[in-house]
Amino acid sequence: SPLHPFLVALPKCEHHMHLEGSLSPELLFALAKKNNISLPSPFPTVSRSGPGTAEEQDEIDPAFASPATLRARYAAFTSLDDFLHYYYIGMRVLLTADDFEELAYAYLARASLEGNVRHAEVFFDPQAHVSRGVTVAVIVEGWERAVERVEGEFGGGKGRKITALLVPCLLRHLEVEDSRGLFAGLLAEGYFHGEDGGEEGPKLAGVGLCSTEMDRPPGLWKEIFEMAREAGVRRTAHAGEEGPAGYVSAALDELWVERIDHGVRAAEDGELMGRLAREGVMLTVCPVSNVRLKGVERLEDVPIREFLDKGVRFSLNSDDPAYFGAYLQEVYCAVEEAFGLSVGEWAMIARNAVEGSWCGEERKREIL
Ligand code: ADE
Ligand code: ZN
Repeated sequence: SPLHPFLVALPKCEHHMHLEGSLSPELLFALAKKNNISLPSPFPTVSRSGPGTAEEQDEIDPAFASPATLRARYAAFTSLDDFLHYYYIGMRVLLTADDFEELAYAYLARASLEGNVRHAEVFFDPQAHVSRGVTVAVIVEGWERAVERVEGEFGGGKGRKITALLVPCLLRHLEVEDSRGLFAGLLAEGYFHGEDGGEEGPKLAGVGLCSTEMDRPPGLWKEIFEMAREAGVRRTAHAGEEGPAGYVSAALDELWVERIDHGVRAAEDGELMGRLAREGVMLTVCPVSNVRLKGVERLEDVPIREFLDKGVRFSLNSDDPAYFGAYLQEVYCAVEEAFGLSVGEWAMIARNAVEGSWCGEERKREIL
């Protein structure tokens, strides 16, 4: 596209990228080896006493033969849950602060150097780590070391400074009580920023909700999000990715979210589209993810045109770039290829992404 250099130079903000979703197959295998973590066996193993148990048989998956076979399997995801199966296995290799530092540094450096990303708000799944004995303190330690390094290396005077915030997501496939315990603990330990986004001290910028969507309506997390609202913790939730438009309304009405992650199925409801436009709710849309998880057949079927025409604000995001094969720059290019947007439309998309960020007003002005 003739717009390619313009799209690369555009200062970008990313609001919907799961840290664990930036784990490449190569780093996955390297960390499994370093940490001595067993992955599903690529081959059937027969023990001396006979065939393995049912559980052991479940852990046979030819995709785990090599990074290349794993990547090939990622290209064939059939649904959100099919992806999540691999995503939760993959993150088992993350154990130490060093592991999280390496993961976060690789993402932030690439975002800055390749995509001119100026501000990134990164999700992570505390419950999936705490259940393995990896504490939030360990994750935050690794994260902060990575952020300090990128801010040092890509900061000074080059006008391409990158800032980054960390946002825990509650996991929808687990019992609500599990979310409550985790969230109440983080709140009690003073982990959250207030809505004024102070830079020092508290380490987490808000709370999100992700994982399996079907049959897990947002309202189940109402009391927990009420706790967040009362404590002045910013809120967002995945909704309308696989689930119906009604889940988007429910996230707004029952969880008081400021943003909606994905939200693409909102396009099926004209009234809801009007509300999103009126209330200025930003959708963090992940078009390549929607294609790879079979929410839509082709990128052209993501309702980008409808959002633009109806004045619904959105940012473009990579979701789980190592699993879906596209980092933010590639997402922007794929959208341009599919929709052929104008320079004015791209400038507006990038500006809305800055305005919808959870950084302070001063930082927004710096990026604009
Ligand atoms: N966790 C990581 N990526 C996700 C997605 N696209 N939807 C729901 N949960 C997720
Ligand atoms: Zn997501």
